[in-house]
Amino acid sequence: MGDGIAQFQPQTTVATAPGKAILLGEHAVVYGRPAIAVPVTDVQATATITAGGRGTGVHLVAADLPAPDGSPGGHRYRLRDAPDDDPLRTIVELSLAAFLRKRSTGTEVGDLVPDPDLLIDVTSTIPIARGLGSGAAVATAVARCLAFHLGRSPQPDEISRLVYEVEKLHHGTPSGIDNSVIAYEQPIYFVRGERIMRLSVGAPLSLVIADTGVVSSTREVVGDVRRRWQANTERYEGLFDEIDAIVRLARSAIERGEPRAVGRLMDDDHELLVTIGVSSPQLNTLVDAARKAGALGAKLSGAGRGGNMLALVEPDRASIVATALQKAGAVSTIFSQIS
Ligand code: PMV
Repeated sequence: MGDGIAQFQPQTTVATAPGKAILLGEHAVVYGRPAIAVPVTDVQATATITAGGRGTGVHLVAADLPAPDGSPGGHRYRLRDAPDDDPLRTIVELSLAAFLRKRSTGTEVGDLVPDPDLLIDVTSTIPIARGLGSGAAVATAVARCLAFHLGRSPQPDEISRLVYEVEKLHHGTPSGIDNSVIAYEQPIYFVRGERIMRLSVGAPLSLVIADTGVVSSTREVVGDVRRRWQANTERYEGLFDEIDAIVRLARSAIERGEPRAVGRLMDDDHELLVTIGVSSPQLNTLVDAARKAGALGAKLSGAGRGGNMLALVEPDRASIVATALQKAGAVSTIFSQIS
């Protein structure tokens, strides 16, 4: 669509984004160590844009998300009435600024962004605050949808950069792994501040992802780890180095197609996350149940203290492991194949 101000299309535009799981390396990744994350396409966020009435501005409908005032979902609001730090307001404004930009003149972006008449409907099947990347997926779906609606085809890194700004609202000091894996929709080997490396998966990885049902605040858990690291820097740097070594070994094992080795490394990583202080009795119970049911390895995933855990399984044992996890207290399980 040239370099001028893009025109809004009258049609309906739909875009989606997957959930994500951190396979290995969470927390250490905040301190510059590598981590491996995979998209979880079995859950997703969807954004749908239709034209709004003339002069109505941008309206948002978010049936599954909490309102800007924290009240439960099902609300509809005008973008301009939302608080400045509302995540949906932020991603819409950033996306409009990025995709309406008049690139050829270098004119100030702010001068060019109108208040278009749009209805943006957002839905999501990704559980919120459970380590599956719900916030980043919603923002990615909205950013992609606005881009497509404007006739643009943004690169994953462009979307990822926009979504990172929203991640900062959710998490404070995010490593950037969530927005990266969701925007690229491929398994990635991620080091903060470095170019994203797509990981080739030598043999499919079968994951059972089980939800403790416990809501976890990434911001709080990451803040707590930071306080521990400040109080005991040498010890925590040592633990992060051990995770670093595990992630590097896992990368080779994934590329060579050796799920058994990956499973053992997931077990080792979980023990280190326990030592760091980010597991919980519920997570440990689910990890034990998965191992007893024959998983190749199991660990918490994401910030911890709640949210989801991962079990790596032989595909033919997936339903046995899922049943064991449900008996041990999981409120839901997802089966996901990574290739
Ligand atoms: O809780 P999640 O899925 O957003 O994962 C957080 C991962 C951390 O490594 C703990 C934090 C980060 O920013 O990478």
